[in-house]
Amino acid sequence: MTERRVRHELPTARWPDEAAAARARWFSPLRLGPSCVAETRTWVPAMVPWRASEDGFVTPAVLDWYGRFARGRPGVLVVEATGIRDVPSGPLLRVGHDRFLPGLRDLVARVRAGSGGRTRLLLQVIDFLSIRRRPEPAKYFGRFLALDGAHRRRMADALGDPSWLAADEAATRARLLAGPRSLHEAVLDAREIEALDFGARERVGDVHLPRVAELPRVLPGLFADAAARARAAGFDGVELHFAHAYTMASFLSPLNRRADGYGGPRENRVRLPLEVLSAVRARAGDGWCVGIRFLGDESIAGGFGVDEAAWFGERFARAGADFLSVSRGGKFEDARRPAVGEAAYPYTGPSGHECMPTVLSDARGPFGRNVPLAAAVRGAVRAAGLETPVITSGGIGTFEQAEGILERGEADAVAAARQSLADPDWFLKVRLGRGAEVRRCVYTNYCEGLDQRHRQVTCKLWDREFRAGDPAVALSRDGRRRLVAPEWNPPTP
Ligand SMILES: Cc1cc2nc3c(=O)[nH]c(=O)nc-3n(C[C@H](O)[C@H](O)[C@H](O)COP(=O)(O)O)c2cc1C
Ligand code: SF4
Repeated sequence: MTERRVRHELPTARWPDEAAAARARWFSPLRLGPSCVAETRTWVPAMVPWRASEDGFVTPAVLDWYGRFARGRPGVLVVEATGIRDVPSGPLLRVGHDRFLPGLRDLVARVRAGSGGRTRLLLQVIDFLSIRRRPEPAKYFGRFLALDGAHRRRMADALGDPSWLAADEAATRARLLAGPRSLHEAVLDAREIEALDFGARERVGDVHLPRVAELPRVLPGLFADAAARARAAGFDGVELHFAHAYTMASFLSPLNRRADGYGGPRENRVRLPLEVLSAVRARAGDGWCVGIRFLGDESIAGGFGVDEAAWFGERFARAGADFLSVSRGGKFEDARRPAVGEAAYPYTGPSGHECMPTVLSDARGPFGRNVPLAAAVRGAVRAAGLETPVITSGGIGTFEQAEGILERGEADAVAAARQSLADPDWFLKVRLGRGAEVRRCVYTNYCEGLDQRHRQVTCKLWDREFRAGDPAVALSRDGRRRLVAPEWNPPTP
């Protein structure tokens, strides 16, 4: 973002009374495919809270986290990005093997119990490529750099000394480490400089790597197996994660120049996402809900914008997606340089701001700034004669915002991530005419900062209500934060 940032006030909120809420569009049902109906158009989109075990299992803390959201009775609750492969991924929830099923069944049971069976529960399924932490320069030059003849030639040129063409490897590495930076820039190629500055990151175009070349062959099956497990665990559906910085979003991006029929023109870039959708549909069956989250705008140089997103949306809808959830940005390409020993995080750059906008924003401000993208996707889908529901998110935290979006036909459901994190009961409070009791998100991204460091995500507003030493309050590993939002007991009718 080049514009100057200014601090924005939260929009004023006028909450409806119970009768007005009962008539509201936001609290009216929404069909998500032939046999899945959400009781309301309120939606909690996927949020990784870093509660899974180190090997990807559901833990009691995961159950508490989703059970807490369920008590606010959102129409739809999407469970965090869950890995489809059976490979170690740290404390990221996983669905890549049947051994994860019992935990996922418990999760479904907890949400059914918490919401009285009224919340539709979806699992967001994800694939991602490898990304390394930013290395110590000594390690990078000493071990990771694959030194070859081209490096030696560029080094001899840069230093004006042909003896580097045949120099001893250890001496060459040591000389490179000694720098200066201009020497690194003269000798390393762009990807190597990136690996030094950010940590090495695979891309879908790295087809010289067999595991990347084979993605179109293996991903449809992996996603389909994951969906079949989600169905067996009792979920109402899956959300295919085609958004942000991950594998499937990278296939959709114009930065994907694969020459195997899966990159280049948009018809090729959408091919694998459509093959995944069709494999998932075939395995999961017609009645079960299969939706897609994708970007309405990549918000990076060389990325796609809203026109292409609308075209993708139409293709997904024609191919039978049960809903389209439109997000924005969240890419690695413009992420901030991480500290040595840490990995780049795709929500730190300008495209990250577009994904999770804060009150420190450009003149347009953070509130509902991505709604026009959903509206454009919805317009293209409706123009094609399809009724596929479109979901919007991003800086929406009041009833009036949500109701206005639905009234104007900009989206069919309105999602709120951080506002629901700040107050998981907020949907219920509004519905009961008790909006004045909503704990309002202040959009300064304390939670996102925790996510960035893979620490247990909590909301800074909960802490104010935290009483140290209360045995009923589960604490974070650092012992300073409550792990779930404070209780709120709805009045008995
Ligand atoms: C802590 C945290 C974790 C998130 N994890 C995911 C995720 O797993 N998958 C996803 O699609 N989006 C994820 N998001 C993005 C949200 O779903 C949402 O798109 C974004 O926060 C903007 O909505 P909001 O303004 O209502 O918060 C995450 C957001 C936060 C704050
Ligand atoms: S930590 Fe801040 S941005 Fe995150 S949910 Fe709480 S108030 Fe909102």
